[in-house]
Amino acid sequence: MIIVQDNDKLNVFTTIESAMKKKSESHRIAASDDIEVSTYLELAKELRGEQPVVEPKLPPSERETIVVLDFGSQYSMLITRRVRECNVYCELVPHDTPWEKIASLNPRGFILSGGPASVYDSGAPLPLHYIYESRLPVMGICYGMFAIAYDLGGQVARGTKREYGHTILHISAEDCPLFAGLPSSLPVWMSHGDQIMELPPGFKALAYTENSPFAVIGNDGGIYGLQFHPEVVHTAQGKTIFQNFVLKICGCQGNWTPANFITESVDKIKEQVGGGRVVCALSGGVDSAVTATLIDRAIGNKLTCIFINNGLLRRDEPERVLRTFKRNLKMDVVYIDATDRFLERLKGVSDPEKKRHLIGNEFIQIFEEEAAKLGKIDFLAQGTLYPDVIESTSSETKAAVKIKSHHNVGGLPAKMNFTLIEPLRYLFKDEVRQVGLALGLPEDMIWRQPFPGPGLAIRIIGEVTREKLEILRAADWILMNEIKNAKLYRQLWQSFAVLTDVRSVGVMGDYRTYGYLVAVRAITSEDAMTADWARLPHDLLARISDRLVNEIPSVNRVVYDVTSKPPATIEWE
Ligand code: XMP
Repeated sequence: MIIVQDNDKLNVFTTIESAMKKKSESHRIAASDDIEVSTYLELAKELRGEQPVVEPKLPPSERETIVVLDFGSQYSMLITRRVRECNVYCELVPHDTPWEKIASLNPRGFILSGGPASVYDSGAPLPLHYIYESRLPVMGICYGMFAIAYDLGGQVARGTKREYGHTILHISAEDCPLFAGLPSSLPVWMSHGDQIMELPPGFKALAYTENSPFAVIGNDGGIYGLQFHPEVVHTAQGKTIFQNFVLKICGCQGNWTPANFITESVDKIKEQVGGGRVVCALSGGVDSAVTATLIDRAIGNKLTCIFINNGLLRRDEPERVLRTFKRNLKMDVVYIDATDRFLERLKGVSDPEKKRHLIGNEFIQIFEEEAAKLGKIDFLAQGTLYPDVIESTSSETKAAVKIKSHHNVGGLPAKMNFTLIEPLRYLFKDEVRQVGLALGLPEDMIWRQPFPGPGLAIRIIGEVTREKLEILRAADWILMNEIKNAKLYRQLWQSFAVLTDVRSVGVMGDYRTYGYLVAVRAITSEDAMTADWARLPHDLLARISDRLVNEIPSVNRVVYDVTSKPPATIEWE
């Protein structure tokens, strides 16, 4: 149970301001569709000075797990995803995680990630010896391989010729199960300066490259080392190597599918919730949608969802959310149309960060009011995803602590004790989508582009008014319509319209016009940390521009934003 500290109102207000300030400094790093809900709820948590949430202990899983030990590689998370693509559950843990924590995962094998260190650096991270003592298969990648070689008595040194980028791997041990189904030579991606000079006792060279006689090594005990990166797309056949390792060498069954995940989660939720009641804030995004649906599948009417319409949503958005959850899925949804409250707060405000603060404050307040009306609630459901968990448990960065406080927590209505329930805590975004599809959620909800919590308020430059909201809703509707018709919606990370506060002169028919300038933004991105402006076809841009100007009377000019991130950000405010 989490204890909520009952701060006095003034104190709460001052702290919320500083929490908001902290949040506003960091809002630009995250990109979850549902960030709006977690953003606001996490602030509520921060302002009450709560301790980080400890996940409730569940009985050890029977599920087979590949454990990835993180030595700090930028690709560690990618390794985890590759294993999961083989339908085998996989967790990424700090390299020095003790055996007691690993044992409860039911490990079937270990993968040691790459990392920036050299094994001869002072304090270089090395694996704990349970990886050998467990007698489970081990695959060390890059630094992981050097760490194994060093640990088991081999010799590692800085290579004279560094091998970075594409190279050809020649397989010398063709009967090795790691290479099943692969040709004798294949392109791989190298990125390390160290080299093995002398193999540890009992190890053999299994493959080589031009500059490295020991590009893949192994022993009879199922311990392998790869000097290249099978997890990156540049190693085109990397997936086969992962399949061979986890299925053939570790003997995993490959039965970790969305359907199995759902069955397992439903059982766990039932067990965790018992006869208790759960509240969940819906945002219209995929994470909260899947969270709520999964919990509904487990406990039905003991779940209540709260959906707050802040008046800053896109056209048809509230109706769509209600249609899906209330009418189609028959879930218990409390719908609050708080448009007036939000717009009243936003009157006269044009500073972007101030807008965020006000919207966040109002959200927390309304959520608390509504949750309090529900009577005794035991659990708060939240759509925390695995990347947030990894960031908050990573041993690598000091920043992790800060990230944790922004993503991994739930804000709790005053004077109520909730336990957090986070069924998506171990899923990547693409897995959440697969689970959502398997749960029967509509495709347009599953594939929705990220939408910021403060909604259209940060896409209207300057003061937010009802009139401007209507203009922007109309522009957004046309843009989405054209992007979807052009079958580009899923390829783009985000595409949206911005209503600038610039007005310019135009001519329509015989009349002079003085209308708004609308900016169109469409970007491609992997994670919103960096982004490139999308090279939309000129014909499409022409159609968008024609329709915006012809169908929205107060708009007479359209520009396309051709800036990447960095130096620009994705949103204009
Ligand atoms: P920027 O503009 O920082 O956006 O490049 C990165 C990602 O974050 C989203 N974004 C927000 N999401 N509250 C949110 O919930 C916000 O205040 C906010 N600001 C930006 C943005 O849409 C993009 O996906």
